Amino acid sequence: MAINAMLIGGGGMGIMHGKNFAEHPDCELKAVCDMNPERLDALKKEFPGLPAYASVDELLDKCDAELAVMITNETLRVPPCVQLLKAGRHVFTEKPLHSRKNQFNLDDEDAKVAWTVIDAARKSGKCFGIDYNYHYFEHFAKLNQALTAGKLGTPKLVWARAHFNCWSHIIDQVLWNMGRPEWVQTIGDCSKENWTRLIHMKWPGGAEGELGGSLDWGYDDGPLKLMICGDKAYATALGLDGFFTVRKANSWPCEEIERWEGKGAYNDSFVHMADAVIKALKAGKPMPVDDQAAWNEQVFEAAVYRSAKTGKRVPLDEIDQELRS
Ligand SMILES: NC(=O)c1ccc[n+]([C@@H]2O[C@H](COP(=O)([O-])OP(=O)(O)OC[C@H]3O[C@@H](n4cnc5c(N)ncnc54)[C@H](O)[C@@H]3O)[C@@H](O)[C@H]2O)c1
Repeated sequence: MAINAMLIGGGGMGIMHGKNFAEHPDCELKAVCDMNPERLDALKKEFPGLPAYASVDELLDKCDAELAVMITNETLRVPPCVQLLKAGRHVFTEKPLHSRKNQFNLDDEDAKVAWTVIDAARKSGKCFGIDYNYHYFEHFAKLNQALTAGKLGTPKLVWARAHFNCWSHIIDQVLWNMGRPEWVQTIGDCSKENWTRLIHMKWPGGAEGELGGSLDWGYDDGPLKLMICGDKAYATALGLDGFFTVRKANSWPCEEIERWEGKGAYNDSFVHMADAVIKALKAGKPMPVDDQAAWNEQVFEAAVYRSAKTGKRVPLDEIDQELRS
């Protein structure tokens, strides 16, 4: 049986996700929705013959599809996500889950609002998924496999950076690989717009790391890099097209164990994500990247902001508890 889906959001990303789900052999797109009349027209053109609705209320009233592909802007995700979950639909949405400003300026107030979606998802018993599609970039998948297979040994140092266009993704990559740090301490002036930030992270197992974010270099110039150094070897994943190496720890001359270079992972990663979402739903399993990953980003961003504001280390478990209350 195919999974029936409905699409909310007729922007560029909504149309792209809508096509990926509609073209999946085990998914049928049943209806589309956008509150903006021009965007609704764009959806009608892209998906001719499908019922098209101007509000989520009307969509829920007329369409019983079980999966909502909910691709609105990050400032407008929370109310429809909560409404769809309360109406008993599975929800797949974009990242970051919630920001009042934009994709790379999130704070503790944003996290409190985002919690309403996580809470609704957990109470609904429905599946909730978020589009950290970089899990399906081959070089990032290789890094995760190298670490989890023990090829790097015990992780000691994480060194990451990103242009702010990739900010949610680099945070997700750090957390996916390493888990949530015990604490963060941030250097940066969070009162400034688009503030450059340097984040020191410490994990319970003893590993330490640094993550830097900025708008101050070319977006197409290796916009993100993640290096994880273990006591046996260190792995590096770089850029959007794909560059990956594993090199022996502390070797000189440097001993390369593995190298991979690819091209064009970006568009395919969304197709892989749609496929993984449909397969998970068909198997009755959680979505490939779930509510906990969405929440972990919000907690991390809240802690980073709070640390920059107070000049203090912020323990993630403590701020997590505070944000939920
Ligand atoms: N995963 C990635 O790599 C990646 C890359 C780019 C963008 N994104 C994310 O994708 C999101 C969407 O991007 P976009 O360019 O399509 O955004 P957009 O703002 O152009 O389009 C969003 C659409 O949603 C509609 N909308 C908002 N609230 C609605 C509601 N309650 N009911 C009905 N329609 C509603 C708006 O009218 C708009 O047409 C961005 O916010 C960003 O977070 C992710």
